[in-house]
Amino acid sequence: MSTNTVVTLNRTIPSGAPTLQDFKVASGSAPSKGELKTGEILVRTLYLSCDPYMRGRLSGRTDSYVASFEAGKPIDGLGVGVVEASASSDFKEGDMVTGPTFKWATRFITSAAGLTKIPSSSGVPPAYFLGVLGMPSFTAYVGTITLCKPKAGETILVSAASGAVGQIVVQLAKARGLRVVGAAGSDEKVQHIKDLGADAAFNYKTVKSLDSAIKEAAPKGIDIYFDNVGGEFLDVALKNMKPNGRIAECGMISQYNATAESAYHIQNLAYVVMKKLTIYGFIVSDYYSTPAYSEFINEVSGMLKENKIKYKMDEISGLENGPQALLDLFEGKNFGKRIVKVSEPSHRL
Ligand SMILES: NC(=O)c1ccc[n+]([C@@H]2O[C@H](COP(=O)([O-])OP(=O)(O)OC[C@H]3O[C@@H](n4cnc5c(N)ncnc54)[C@H](OP(=O)(O)O)[C@@H]3O)[C@@H](O)[C@H]2O)c1
Repeated sequence: MSTNTVVTLNRTIPSGAPTLQDFKVASGSAPSKGELKTGEILVRTLYLSCDPYMRGRLSGRTDSYVASFEAGKPIDGLGVGVVEASASSDFKEGDMVTGPTFKWATRFITSAAGLTKIPSSSGVPPAYFLGVLGMPSFTAYVGTITLCKPKAGETILVSAASGAVGQIVVQLAKARGLRVVGAAGSDEKVQHIKDLGADAAFNYKTVKSLDSAIKEAAPKGIDIYFDNVGGEFLDVALKNMKPNGRIAECGMISQYNATAESAYHIQNLAYVVMKKLTIYGFIVSDYYSTPAYSEFINEVSGMLKENKIKYKMDEISGLENGPQALLDLFEGKNFGKRIVKVSEPSHRL
């Protein structure tokens, strides 16, 4: 019988930074075909996705759009894997699948509902379905295109612009003729944003003043701010918005580990009225059943085929390194879309 590595949560962490001690990585026996109930499949994991929204799921909170992980149980998230055995009419052995219900385990049994088959004709590496053709990229599309409706000549500011979502925001906006300004937390990341086509980019950790850096990069102001980080960056962006500007409120990673004492309090919210701003809070999962999803797939797969899109992945090997790979996101230690490689497509474990 093959062994199975599983990552479980030791305790929920309502605030502050989680640590490696909050997770347990253990090996046991793998689930077998004989345990399958009707409608279930046995999946071998190839890749798992590390995503900032998982911090909310570590918190134990009950008022979110997504359920918290439970202490003592495996964590789960987006992944790509191979069906090893099936008791579902929708999948057969050997199918490649993706979806949001991947246990952080080498092998696991799950309901087939909610997983999607990756066609063998897709012609792209399976990990693309966690990045450029997956949730982060669609998030960029929804926030930038569906909600903020950019027009050529406008200026867009993007925070965490070298990350999983940000890299796509930069390129979708550039393809529509916007002036693109990106910010990130290292000089290497800033160079990457420029390589993606941004007109200006800065390292928000080393600039003397965030306000001056934004003003220098966008002297006439910001039409659209794609917010990935919240906190002080959002506060300063509010000050630099043009009248009738739009904000895609995608995420606030700077606040995910905040405590009551360290939480940043926004001071410039009055500009929402004074500048008649629109702030679009959104969750990408609400948009998969809308026309935006096929628009996104058509546009981004077309750009991929024509080599008109770049996307940096950041792969960590080994499920045992999964917890650290996830925690790194909250310290900016990832560079591009962070994934964990669990097994090889062709390997028997
Ligand atoms: N609304 C939705 O449906 C949806 C869907 C997906 C993602 N999101 C949100 O989108 C944002 C980006 O996600 P992603 O997957 O693209 O992550 P990512 O950018 O690939 O990785 C996270 C990045 O956030 C930055 N960061 C970390 N701690 C920070 C802090 N204290 N202050 C400022 N920046 C910090 C770091 O970049 P630097 O080195 O540049 O600081 C880090 O590399 C997150 O807020 C996430 O929650 C929302």
